[in-house]
Amino acid sequence: MTHSPLRVCIVGASGKLGRYMIRHCLDLSYEVVGVCRPESVGKLANFAGQIRIEPGRTDDREVIGRALRGCDGVLTVLVPWGVHGYSTGTAAAVLDLAEPHARLVFSCGWHISQDGKDRYKPTFRAFLAVATWLFAALRIADIGDQVRACERIFASGRAWTVVRGSDLEEGDAEGLPVWSEHIGDAVLTSNRTRRVDFARFMVHALTDDGLLQKVPAIVSCKSASALAHIAGGPSARSPA
Ligand SMILES: NC(=O)c1ccc[n+]([C@@H]2O[C@H](COP(=O)([O-])OP(=O)(O)OC[C@H]3O[C@@H](n4cnc5c(N)ncnc54)[C@H](OP(=O)(O)O)[C@@H]3O)[C@@H](O)[C@H]2O)c1
Repeated sequence: MTHSPLRVCIVGASGKLGRYMIRHCLDLSYEVVGVCRPESVGKLANFAGQIRIEPGRTDDREVIGRALRGCDGVLTVLVPWGVHGYSTGTAAAVLDLAEPHARLVFSCGWHISQDGKDRYKPTFRAFLAVATWLFAALRIADIGDQVRACERIFASGRAWTVVRGSDLEEGDAEGLPVWSEHIGDAVLTSNRTRRVDFARFMVHALTDDGLLQKVPAIVSCKSASALAHIAGGPSARSPA
């Protein structure tokens, strides 16, 4: 375990994942700073008086610089919206402007691969290719931008963790997800995690040294593949 962060910034705080992360951080008595787009500030009304909000785009370096000052941990929701490098700009701002000692945790999906050793099903590859093309054609999102953002994170010498979420579902918490190094590992087969648990894993990663400079792919600890794996003896990781 590393230090326990006192002040945590959540970049992309107003989304579903962001709001779950705020709740987990407050439960741990962390001081929370949230960055979200100005038009989304109202989505944080339930946290009024409990967190500090810095309204602004997450790739706005002035906003990020102000928000990250004095923060021991940064939880960044990486999203590839638009076609103007939103993810890359967000990651670069966080990497460049976070305090030198800060623990940096980023969210993304299973499509991100650090070492090229992930083994994807043909259906996953096909879906990703179609989604990438369609979103780009409609100028809704640039999935390649999220890939480039992660490459930048991997190349940095910072204390980062990139958490790769499986397909997500809403519902009550099932517990801290288990993780594995590579897509294709049997424990991940169920490919489902409750969003509230994804958020818990992100917050957990702030203080788990075993996740430093790792790209854990997570799955619900209650999913069939995780339970089968646990019954058969551990090779996937349960966080410390
Ligand atoms: N959805 C999935 O099935 C899935 C699966 C695996 C991994 N993930 C990962 O989980 C993370 C969160 O995903 P999520 O689906 O749960 O989303 P989410 O928590 O609802 O977050 C979406 C984020 O995108 C922002 N956003 C929405 N539209 C935008 C726009 N046009 N321009 C700029 N920002 C915009 C939102 O900000 P506002 O509040 O301002 O709108 C919010 O911060 C992402 O890193 C994603 O890669 C998702």
